[in-house]
Amino acid sequence: MADLDAIVREIAEELRARPDRGEVASYIPELARVDPNQFGLAVIDAEGRVSAAGDCDAPFSIQSVSKVFTLTLALGKIGDRLWRRVGREPSGSPFNSIVQLERENGVPRNPFINAGAIAVTDVIVSGHKPREALGEILRFMQFLADDDSIAIDDKVAASEQRTGFRNAALANYMKSFGVIENPVDFTLGVYYHHCAIAMSCRQLAMATRFLAHSGVQPSTGRSVVTRERARRINAIMLTCGHYDGSGDFAYRVGLPGKSGVGGGIIAVAPGKASIAAWSPGLDAAGNSHLGRLALEMLVKRTGWSIF
Ligand code: DON
Repeated sequence: MADLDAIVREIAEELRARPDRGEVASYIPELARVDPNQFGLAVIDAEGRVSAAGDCDAPFSIQSVSKVFTLTLALGKIGDRLWRRVGREPSGSPFNSIVQLERENGVPRNPFINAGAIAVTDVIVSGHKPREALGEILRFMQFLADDDSIAIDDKVAASEQRTGFRNAALANYMKSFGVIENPVDFTLGVYYHHCAIAMSCRQLAMATRFLAHSGVQPSTGRSVVTRERARRINAIMLTCGHYDGSGDFAYRVGLPGKSGVGGGIIAVAPGKASIAAWSPGLDAAGNSHLGRLALEMLVKRTGWSIF
């Protein structure tokens, strides 16, 4: 394999010139203002070496990428009891879809579609004030990335809170089935704010290391989750991490990954590397267009596909 630094640099250079960049998310007004001509990539190998290029240090709204970390926290809190509140099957529907909830007793298909992530956030909120629950999520991100400067973009959170009518519908609908325990406003408030955490590719790749290394933070040797739990979170990322684009992502990239409408994607090459790519323009399924292309190129050049 050629030198990883060179591969990452080449990918950033090749993608910078691409005319097809996708569309920035416009349903959250604050995200519609982001410049689509940005691209970042960061890869951290098993020895902790960082290869990064492009806008790899620009913070962006992590949005649904946060759902991997809230899932990790909720599993830490209530373990396998979580699976009474949310399933672990791909939905084959858009990320904000409501149709399956009626047929399936208000239990969302998986923790990564919006309904599922709201149910997971509700688990973290239980027993806490919303502010405490949010603090716990933010501190977890800071701990994983080893960076106390990570913060929430309150403007993005407020923008989504004002316009999040579908999420309010999903949460109220689940509440009617008893799947949401806390006041809907509390849970939604925490959900919008953890989606609005701003991080760079470098910080996200740092935060994802434990999933690439069997639950262990390789720099400190500290265990974040058990090997089995890391394997299971990765399995859900592979099958559900890109919504109804998950099959295509597995086909093209072949790594567990999670996208967000801010244009970020994290991916895990088990035992080898944690990866974060970012470009704000999205494809029709709401996944970063150039982010996915970057991962496809990276996997081709490194041979890291799990298949
Ligand atoms: O709830 C929402 O719609 C956003 N806060 C997150 C959605 C998202 O990132 C979907 N990912 N591609």
